[in-house]
Amino acid sequence: MTDTTDRRVTPIDLSRRPNANRYLAGNYAPVEHELTAFDLAVTGRIPTELEGRWLRNGPNPEQLDDTSKHHWFMGQGMVHGVRLRGGTAEWYRNRYVLDAADRAGDLFGANTNVGGFAGTTWAMVEAGNPPAELDYELNPRGINAFHGTLDGPFTAHPKYDPATGELHAMSYHWPDLIDHVNYTVVGGDGRVTKQLAIPVPDMPMMHDMSLTETYAVVYDLPVTVNMDVLMDGYQFPFKWNPDRAARVGLLPRDGAADDIIWCDVDPCYVFHPLNAYDAPDGTVVVDVCRYENMMVDDRVGPFTDSPPALDRWVIDPATRRVTETRIDDRPQEFPRHNPRVGLQQHRYGYTAEVKPDDVNLHGATIKIDFETGTTETHEYGPGRGGAEPVFVPKADATAEDAGWIMAVVYDATTDSSELHILDAEQITEPAVATIELPQRVPFGFHGNWVPDSSVAPG
Ligand SMILES: [Fe+2]
Repeated sequence: MTDTTDRRVTPIDLSRRPNANRYLAGNYAPVEHELTAFDLAVTGRIPTELEGRWLRNGPNPEQLDDTSKHHWFMGQGMVHGVRLRGGTAEWYRNRYVLDAADRAGDLFGANTNVGGFAGTTWAMVEAGNPPAELDYELNPRGINAFHGTLDGPFTAHPKYDPATGELHAMSYHWPDLIDHVNYTVVGGDGRVTKQLAIPVPDMPMMHDMSLTETYAVVYDLPVTVNMDVLMDGYQFPFKWNPDRAARVGLLPRDGAADDIIWCDVDPCYVFHPLNAYDAPDGTVVVDVCRYENMMVDDRVGPFTDSPPALDRWVIDPATRRVTETRIDDRPQEFPRHNPRVGLQQHRYGYTAEVKPDDVNLHGATIKIDFETGTTETHEYGPGRGGAEPVFVPKADATAEDAGWIMAVVYDATTDSSELHILDAEQITEPAVATIELPQRVPFGFHGNWVPDSSVAPG
């Protein structure tokens, strides 16, 4: 279903922020100021039903002893946020997720995701500290281990079950979880209700998980902790392990650790699944951004070893077989879907095109129709690219693709960023609104729309 759109990208002079480490150059470079700006300039019309905050987390390293060995995944977390109300963009703020004292010595720094849960705002990272709580205006409130109920690390990619109001997480951590991962469930009151140790050897980099009504899905893939990498002075001690099996596990949500059903897959790496659901025939369907390999030779970032393509895996717990089908071979990442179809069969998905050879990490926003096998793209123009497409259902919507897509857009020709709001039903059309941001937003990771109805201002 690949389309053949030809995109020209304006060559950009990176002399503004040169660095031999690409993950510190150009728009990967950290910003130097925490800003507050009010009444942002808007082109178009912001839907008045959008009342809340768009938030995005990413690394903003403060001090680096050896820039040549800095990994993109490291560095203190910084959240960028825009508050929308009444058709206006009331403010922009960017803030470190931890205060200066808590940031000292914390390399991971809760730098990967941010969202609303249990009435407050959480910044999250894998394999490091528990979540960091933020106030409404993004000021740090400190580490919050779910009110002291979480024993150990958490994840940047918990899965929300709308039927139960729970968060589900798979967590790993050096060195105390070297031989297992933790499956954790957090109740709607923000307190841990379940922790289960699942034996998994070699400490694989387990970035995400999937959740269906029946199973928690474990991605046990051959990128594992590697002391040689650490001894060579690199910050991020993981490496492709060609001798190790690749498998996904189906853990019955109410089961014990030894109830897990392991199913082999072809060697690969997956950071992000799009959604997952139980099919009527008893199989489990997951769509994944799949890399042929990961961290083979590149010690500072994820994008040079192999590109990510969109695949569908149908996992059969009865036969332990996984049927893998290529959906779209354009490089793409940061998959999202309408949250109302979480854990249910989805028709649509949305991804950010990845163009790692260009000075802009991203290109188009891609809308995938899994029912018809077609895609549509929203092009941002030369030198411009849209990051993770956050989907916000329209008020009173019934159609699955009736929603707004919010994506931060970096314009390499002007070295500036905007927040774009697209109509997902007419994704090829110009943005319904673009919001000027007072500084660029460095390439980073994940975020969410947090409506005021879920997290009260104040
Ligand atoms: Fe991620």
